[in-house]
Amino acid sequence: MTTGEPASGEGFAAADPEALRRRAVAALHTARERTALLTGCVDDGELTAQHSPLMSPLVWDLAHIGNQEEQWLLRAVAGREAIRPEIDPLYDAFEHPRSARPSLPLLAPEEARGYAAEVRGRALDVLERTELRGTPLTEAGFAFGMIAQHEQQHDETMLITHQLRSGPAALSAPEPGPADFTGPAEVLVPGGPFTMGTSADPWALDNERPAHRRDVPPFFLDTVPVTNGAYLEFMADGGYREPRWWLPRGWAYIRSESVTAPLFWWREGGGWLRRRFGVTEPVPPNEPVVHVSWYEADAYARWAGRRLPREAEWEKAARHDPVSGRSRRHPWGDADPGADHANLGQRHLRPAPAGSYPAGQSPLGVRQLLGDVWEWTASDFLPYPGFRAFPYREYSEVFLGSGYKVLRGGSFAVDRVVCRGTFRNWDYPVRRQIFAGFRTARDAEAS
Ligand code: AVJ
Ligand code: FE
Repeated sequence: MTTGEPASGEGFAAADPEALRRRAVAALHTARERTALLTGCVDDGELTAQHSPLMSPLVWDLAHIGNQEEQWLLRAVAGREAIRPEIDPLYDAFEHPRSARPSLPLLAPEEARGYAAEVRGRALDVLERTELRGTPLTEAGFAFGMIAQHEQQHDETMLITHQLRSGPAALSAPEPGPADFTGPAEVLVPGGPFTMGTSADPWALDNERPAHRRDVPPFFLDTVPVTNGAYLEFMADGGYREPRWWLPRGWAYIRSESVTAPLFWWREGGGWLRRRFGVTEPVPPNEPVVHVSWYEADAYARWAGRRLPREAEWEKAARHDPVSGRSRRHPWGDADPGADHANLGQRHLRPAPAGSYPAGQSPLGVRQLLGDVWEWTASDFLPYPGFRAFPYREYSEVFLGSGYKVLRGGSFAVDRVVCRGTFRNWDYPVRRQIFAGFRTARDAEAS
């Protein structure tokens, strides 16, 4: 391909139809196991309660997952009639703001579970009978991959709800291992064009398309995400009290909301503690900082004499292979993420120490680009040249513009089906409950 993307579709488009079907079944199954865990570890009262005005009740996410699956796999792909047409408006994310959802006549937990399970049974049946080619929705199993990704995105949203919930821990997971990283603090990414976005990845979503060339001047990028320890130095240096580090809107925001530390942190006995999924613990210095807004990331970078990376810079660092000159799916190559590559899939309920996952590093030695924490970039959420909304405007198109900042890389809460070097997430620059951190950059010429 002239764009420098692998013609194979990065591994699995060319796979035989049975392999694609197995991939879709496995992705749907993994998502449902996660959903069951996140909605099965608390009682019905907690499922229907609103744990934060920023979030839906968990029982809304559960039925919304089923409703989206019904709309796309049963109605759009298979032409079936609606099972319960009267519930569609309840689970339309654009009809009711999250804060209003608890007062809707939502399906009760048992009904929601039953509905999602009924849809799933029929969807697997449709998957078995559908030829995975011929229409844009069915080509390479796109709609099935999209729905698995949709459920996993809500599984991350539900994990955020768990983090915002008060009370004792409901979830647990093994700890990530230690790291003994001694490499350089930053790497030089040489200037020149690279291929951004994708036209070949069969399950890539509309905003990742199409592949196009971008010229990126040389720049330096942090080898690992900014850690709690580094962030504490900014705080100790009066970072939150010094307006010169802040954009005017960021300064106004931290003043009006009294923001003086990452969300979920407080000071006690000369140190900093945090609350993480119902457990109180000292802030670990060697872990990537998480739960900071874009404004805080931007202020830290300015204090450090640096800046946030632009989206194209981030993707070039994550995908460009200087040897072959082509863009790959992941920092380590085109192979699917394994447990050695990245901290993904809620396997651990926290970021791994900075410098973890040497097997997942990029050709230039940048670590933890995928997994651990979403990384704020300097960029607004804008369409690529040639963008076309597909299959619905409400996935991306209605959010495009300058109101949202792009996040890249995925967090520990993201499943690998929603994690790749081209994936784009976005949120408001004031958001802090998401699993977002950052790394910093600087122009290569500036010294
Ligand atoms: C891409 C994470 C911003 O959660 O708002 C879920 C994903 N879109 N259902 C969101 C999404 C529709 C979306 N983000
Ligand atoms: Fe959704």
